[in-house]
Amino acid sequence: MVIKEANKCYIYDSHDNEFIDTSMGSGAQIIGHNNNLIKKIINQVHKGTIYTIPNCYTEEVNNYLHKYFNPDLDEKYVFCNSGTEANMRAIRLARAYTNKEKIAKFHGGWHGGLDGFIEGCGVPEATKNLITTLPYNDDKCLKKITNELAAVIIEPVQGSNPRSDIGPFLHKVQDKCKENNVLLILDEVMTGFRLSALGGRGIFNINPDIVTYGKVLGGGLPIGALGAKPHIMETANVFYGGTFSANPLTMAASKSILKTIINSKHIKYSKLKTRSQLLRDELNDLFLNKKKSMRIIGCGPINRIIFTDKPIKNREDRDKFENVSLQKAFYERLKQNGVFINTNGIIHLSMCHTRKIIYKIINAIQKSL
Ligand SMILES: Cc1ncc(COP(=O)(O)O)c(C=O)c1O
Repeated sequence: MVIKEANKCYIYDSHDNEFIDTSMGSGAQIIGHNNNLIKKIINQVHKGTIYTIPNCYTEEVNNYLHKYFNPDLDEKYVFCNSGTEANMRAIRLARAYTNKEKIAKFHGGWHGGLDGFIEGCGVPEATKNLITTLPYNDDKCLKKITNELAAVIIEPVQGSNPRSDIGPFLHKVQDKCKENNVLLILDEVMTGFRLSALGGRGIFNINPDIVTYGKVLGGGLPIGALGAKPHIMETANVFYGGTFSANPLTMAASKSILKTIINSKHIKYSKLKTRSQLLRDELNDLFLNKKKSMRIIGCGPINRIIFTDKPIKNREDRDKFENVSLQKAFYERLKQNGVFINTNGIIHLSMCHTRKIIYKIINAIQKSL
């Protein structure tokens, strides 16, 4: 499928087919495609799109992040162009600060296409050996969080298994990290400014040493950012630069999106939450009534259909129970019925997914069952 246009919660392919989009730029477009707020950055295009010298927006974005979102973190953030890059820098900072090399991540997590974080060809053994994968949502992971680790990286909510009941587990991981002098990196690339104004951190009351952002923070333009506690951010001689890092176009968009979050203007998190709950309630009733071994799980506006009626604890369970080919066939049929769910299966709702659109999605799913 090739997309030629996107507007509100709709995407249009090269054959002029219209689909309700549930990917929304992999979660980046929380207001909706082609929204008036971000269109205003055209003004910045007239002033140049790349300087590679600090621009006037960066300080404002730093100030907003510090004052309204993370007052306990350093007032300066590191900006880059993707979530992957933000995590790469976060890990580098953690290694530099702790003078240790090993990093632990969780099964089912996604932190971008970093060597060592992904498997497959081309990833050196030496890199793989520096990364440990821990079981997710399972207390067995706790004894593996030892002093030899520089950091543990975790998403507040995993896209592969988005769930609202994960708070106690996150707290156990946080406590274990503290106990063993291991830094906690909270990857809020997907959840930041999406689950709530304060991200997953706000919802679950987590206090990470380092936090990474992306997606929503760029308002639809490429961004990554990392923040850290002041004594960690002060670590000397850590390299962060890049040609397009903190470019004026992205930073203008970022300033606009943060401003609208602060003023509760274009984004109403309570609406995102209730509409998402409506989608889950209605669909779970439907799956039950139709005796389908399907359920929908989620947290805030991040949702996913799982192709089993068994309760799952983590991605490992999902993989055990799900029928992959059935899933593919279902999503293909759903597309024919006018709703697009991306290959990662994540359903991201935006402010444009009104109750009416939610019911359109439900009807298309019912038709596709
Ligand atoms: C939690 C999380 N971390 C990191 C990334 C990587 O971000 P990007 O695709 O911008 O490199 C993603 C992207 O989906 C993500 O969901």
